Amino acid sequence: MLGTSVMEVTNKLLAAIALCLVVRTSVTGGYRILGVFPHTAKSHFIMSGTIMRELATRGHEVVVISPFPEKNPPKNYRDITYVDPSNTIVDSFTLDMVGGARIVETLYVLYSLGVETCEATYSSQKVQELLKSDEKFDLVMVEIFNTECFLPFAHRFNASLVGISSSVLMPWANERFGNPDDPSYIPVHFTGYTDRMTFSERLANTLILSAVKVAYDYVFNYKANQIVRKYFGEMVPTVEEMASKMSLLLVNSHFALHQPRPLVPAVVEVGGIHMKEPKAMPKEFEQFLNESEHGVIYFSLGSTVRSDSFPEPMRQAFLEAFSHLPQRVLWKWESGSMPGQPSNVKIAKWMPQLEILSHPNVKAFITHGGLMGTMEAAYFGVPMIVIPLFGDQYLNAQSYVQKGIAVQLDYGTIDKKTVSAALRAVLQEPSYAENARRVSKALRDAPLSPVDTAVYWTEYVAKHGGAPHLRCAAADLPWYQLKLLDVFAVLLLGAVLLGLLIRAAARRLFSGAKRQEASNKGRKSKTS
Ligand SMILES: *[C@@H]1O[C@H](CO)[C@@H](O)[C@H](O)[C@H]1NC(C)=O
Repeated sequence: MLGTSVMEVTNKLLAAIALCLVVRTSVTGGYRILGVFPHTAKSHFIMSGTIMRELATRGHEVVVISPFPEKNPPKNYRDITYVDPSNTIVDSFTLDMVGGARIVETLYVLYSLGVETCEATYSSQKVQELLKSDEKFDLVMVEIFNTECFLPFAHRFNASLVGISSSVLMPWANERFGNPDDPSYIPVHFTGYTDRMTFSERLANTLILSAVKVAYDYVFNYKANQIVRKYFGEMVPTVEEMASKMSLLLVNSHFALHQPRPLVPAVVEVGGIHMKEPKAMPKEFEQFLNESEHGVIYFSLGSTVRSDSFPEPMRQAFLEAFSHLPQRVLWKWESGSMPGQPSNVKIAKWMPQLEILSHPNVKAFITHGGLMGTMEAAYFGVPMIVIPLFGDQYLNAQSYVQKGIAVQLDYGTIDKKTVSAALRAVLQEPSYAENARRVSKALRDAPLSPVDTAVYWTEYVAKHGGAPHLRCAAADLPWYQLKLLDVFAVLLLGAVLLGLLIRAAARRLFSGAKRQEASNKGRKSKTS
């Protein structure tokens, strides 16, 4: 009697201990994750910030180095802000700085910004304190964009390395994973080609891809290695060696919106990851949208470029075209007033973009082609007029034109005629709205949401100790072997040798036959 009750109590106690252990492991089961995202353009942090917040919400300990501290961080989220947040790139570019910038300028800007952020980050006391601390991390997450100088964080903390690409893959992001980047159908970022190129476009795309990769490998990485050695000493591995250890890359593209392309298992598309449920928007905007019976055109050049810097004639071209429309216009405009503002145009320095684009009365979006805003428009089925200005915006614009959801308006050609023609097409030709609805449906149809996908694969890398089994052998082949140039060379040589052999044999046969003929003739003439 006593024995059974003692046993019962013991059993209960054991069960309770087991339960405690289960609960404990699930609490301490979280990983320690360091995010290093020092690039100062806000649009880049939108994606990384979303992932880091989500990881913290799901119980991981997250430390984030960025210029954008969280206003309401989740419980396990700690910011290390290395630079005065007012020095970030928000509403700081004017149109004459960026309008029509092409490859060489773009590369130069990327390079200089990269060097600047590397130096600013590593010379920050807070970052140095972290590097000297005895904190431990399971994972380090960095952006793959314009510099590799942040890879040593993973080396320093002996952690697995995960990359994030806040744009469609940069041309230099592929090789470290052995990810296919054939220029025959994958257009380089800055060209504005689609995946269906003419012969001359393929030729240009091939040359540009090679040139851009050489520039990155020999100029960008040379500088990154210099900076890394300056702060980590001479013994640190090269950034190329560290890049080759990257386990996973989360990329902000989607096959339904951009060009479908083959991806190795270590490269995972999570396009649209920053999309949220629309919240209630401020009353002034909601009322304006509700009351626009003919619909609304939303106009914004994003968080970086000031649309109040349009040259006078271009602004006039828009205003004149707008003043003849039955629709009303919401224009993100960075100064207090707009000269010659028509009565159907409302301006504001900040607008609740996601909420506006989700409103059923919005008929078109005039945009510079930034990835975040255009993905939001595509997600809510809003056709676009894209005025690409720099970077990946040409590529984005061409993807959307190809899908039939956008018209491209070139910055240099903006006048009343081109603006009116673009507006007429998008507002009056039904195909744009139809295609936009179709793309929206395709974007939303997925087995796992982008944010769940990103968290799943990030945890997967931590769980499987860097998941080296994701690595494709193509990553370790020299380029001429990957492209089978050595095999083709041998085959070509074989074909040539075979040709020569056949020729020699034919000659011998032929001359043998001739000799025979000649001797036959001689015999004949003798006998006759
Ligand atoms: C706008 O319209 C929606 C749907 O009819 C309604 O729920 C909302 O209250 C309206 N908002 C304003 C500010 O008028």
